[in-house]
Amino acid sequence: PVTVYENESIACRKVALRISDIIKSKQRRLENAVLGLATGATPVGVYEELIRLHKEEGLSFKNVITFNLDEYYPMQPDSKQSYVKFMDENLFNHIDIKRDNIHIPDGTLDKEDITNYCLAYEQKISAVGGLDLQILGIGRTGHIGFNEPGSAPNSGTRLVTLDDLTRRDASRDFGGKENVPTKAITMGIGTIFKAREIILMAWNKKKAPIIKKAVEGEISANVPATFLQLAENVEFILDKEAASELT
Ligand code: F6R
Repeated sequence: PVTVYENESIACRKVALRISDIIKSKQRRLENAVLGLATGATPVGVYEELIRLHKEEGLSFKNVITFNLDEYYPMQPDSKQSYVKFMDENLFNHIDIKRDNIHIPDGTLDKEDITNYCLAYEQKISAVGGLDLQILGIGRTGHIGFNEPGSAPNSGTRLVTLDDLTRRDASRDFGGKENVPTKAITMGIGTIFKAREIILMAWNKKKAPIIKKAVEGEISANVPATFLQLAENVEFILDKEAASELT
């Protein structure tokens, strides 16, 4: 299903509320909530609202376990552009999550260790009961996580090569495309599909053409987000502008 909200901030509050409902219902059952998280501009408003719910309404993250979708490779966690830094600054430093419960793909691994690391990442997700909710943005290539065009629907966590358009879109953060890593470690499309609920969010006119393809286009590895049309528990949450090209 597709849900269109008047604007980004209303949509972000709705998504934050969904997350907070999952956390609280798990708390009542003395269980952990397992969340799949994304970086980038899209989820920032969701994280802001979660921080507000923590600070003003007593929402606790003590029973929350998180797995981030992706990280650039190579990437040092203390670099300005790392997703570790992004998550700390935009969410984790402002809530009461346990540090041990945070998982972000490691951009510092030796190449030969990556395959085993990725398998272990998948196993960790399974070992804690699987993802209750995965939140996603969408890249202009149609990527979800960093599953670029050509990604298989059953792909797992792995090292991938970033699309040229993705590197161009990231060039501002890195001060030039030439400084953007060419690779990343990402959860696979198969990994994302195992989540019990999936929410893909998109805001602004810039995302309207790719949202049209993702929601209404032919299902194809050329636009990896189209695979979500096959998922049962997926919701596309859009602002008016991102939805503006839908028929
Ligand atoms: C980030 C991620 C990417 C972004 C996508 C959109 O963890 O996996 O798929 O969600 O590139 O980025 P923004 O939100 O910056 O437009």
